[in-house]
Amino acid sequence: MKDDNFLRANNAQHMWHPMGHPGAARGDEPPRIITKAEGCEIVDIDGHRAIDAVGGLWCVNLGYSNDKVKEAIAKQLYDLPYYSAFFGTTNPTAIEASYATREFFAEDGMARVFFTSGGSDSVETTLRLARQYHSLRGEPKRTKYLSLKKGYHGTHFGGASVNGNNRFRKAYEPLLPGCHHLPAPYSYRNPFNETDPAKLAQYIAQAAEDEIEFHGAEHIAAFIMEPILGAGGVIVPHETFMPLMRDICDRHGILMIADEVICGFGRTGDWTGSRHFGVKPDMMSCAKGITSGYFPVGAALMSEQVASVFESSDAEGAIFHGYTYSAHPVGAAAVTACLEETLRLDTKTNAAARGTQLYQGCVALMDEFDLIGDVRGGHGLMTGVELVSDRAKKTPLDPATMKRVHEAAYDSGLMMRIGGNNFLMSPPLTITEAEIDRVLAALRTGLQAA
Ligand SMILES: Cc1ncc(COP(=O)(O)O)c(C=O)c1O
Repeated sequence: MKDDNFLRANNAQHMWHPMGHPGAARGDEPPRIITKAEGCEIVDIDGHRAIDAVGGLWCVNLGYSNDKVKEAIAKQLYDLPYYSAFFGTTNPTAIEASYATREFFAEDGMARVFFTSGGSDSVETTLRLARQYHSLRGEPKRTKYLSLKKGYHGTHFGGASVNGNNRFRKAYEPLLPGCHHLPAPYSYRNPFNETDPAKLAQYIAQAAEDEIEFHGAEHIAAFIMEPILGAGGVIVPHETFMPLMRDICDRHGILMIADEVICGFGRTGDWTGSRHFGVKPDMMSCAKGITSGYFPVGAALMSEQVASVFESSDAEGAIFHGYTYSAHPVGAAAVTACLEETLRLDTKTNAAARGTQLYQGCVALMDEFDLIGDVRGGHGLMTGVELVSDRAKKTPLDPATMKRVHEAAYDSGLMMRIGGNNFLMSPPLTITEAEIDRVLAALRTGLQAA
């Protein structure tokens, strides 16, 4: 490894970073260089330590020090570092990982898994297979998709098209035709001016019925939603919302895709977001926590019913979709080890308890800081703190002040994620009570710097 001067001098000079301005990164906003991590902490190039309340990127569920997963990856690199899983060949760790994944999701009614390289791939897989499913059943006109505003479904063209945040859309339009968005279950801001989450859920369900009637159910392939909307600001729908949408999908023959890329693997305090809300979707997309971020893997999952349509079909049921790294042997070894560790450590139980502590701590800070307009969470370790410059008018806090608060919190030992005028927190599910106390103390210091 080159020395620190080299790293600083070349930081962002030759590499474009996701989700930001490449000129700014080359100029006066160079990315922080994170050199090490341990437990729930990251260490930067200056030796400064911070609790990683981002959890890498909602993914390092086991923290940074899980040797079981690291050893499984290292061993597999020596046994078989790669082989294709395209039709005709497979590998032992992929077979094992498929078994472990199916077991993990059995309670959600998922029966088959298609491995991918990440969340966007998994979303794309579900969207494409949903069309093929209808075509195989003799309804080839079912090609459209419904989704939620504020939802995030990755950056491939299909996923970006069902995405509900214009920041990820505007520069790349026109996107896929036939993608239509319902209002988000966001009780702090919504077009109905409805603050009661249960009533809001009803309004959105009515809007869904209206939209379906408008397009004709016979044209709609699938509805995709995150059980709790993550990147859009940790938007927690009322508990009735997902069941309402499940019922609507059933009545209209529309497949329900649960995007569990963030919610899956314990983050909500249950093993999946769907289970958290008592819903069995037809398909799921997942990634992140499936390997705790240690190796890039995702998965698309199908119910027995969806699977049977493909498996009992004629030649048209062949899946001409897949990735070079689908069922990658090293990734698969990481999956099996990570799922074993996830279950052994029962991370969902800690996520529920620590999530409540973090949420309540942030709510308590509202009494101290008018700057906090809304706090969302309380369902596992996903918390959103929305900052405003005027509480009555809900004016979003300006980016410069957001940055100042973020910097001050980092200096006090807390790494958070900025999403618009929200601070998003999704720490490792292994985080301790004392560490959450440190998160809250550093957040307070950050807010004092506004
Ligand atoms: C709900 C959801 N779906 C899809 C994705 C895309 O996943 P990836 O970045 O691994 O492609 C993300 C990423 O954060 C996500 O949060």
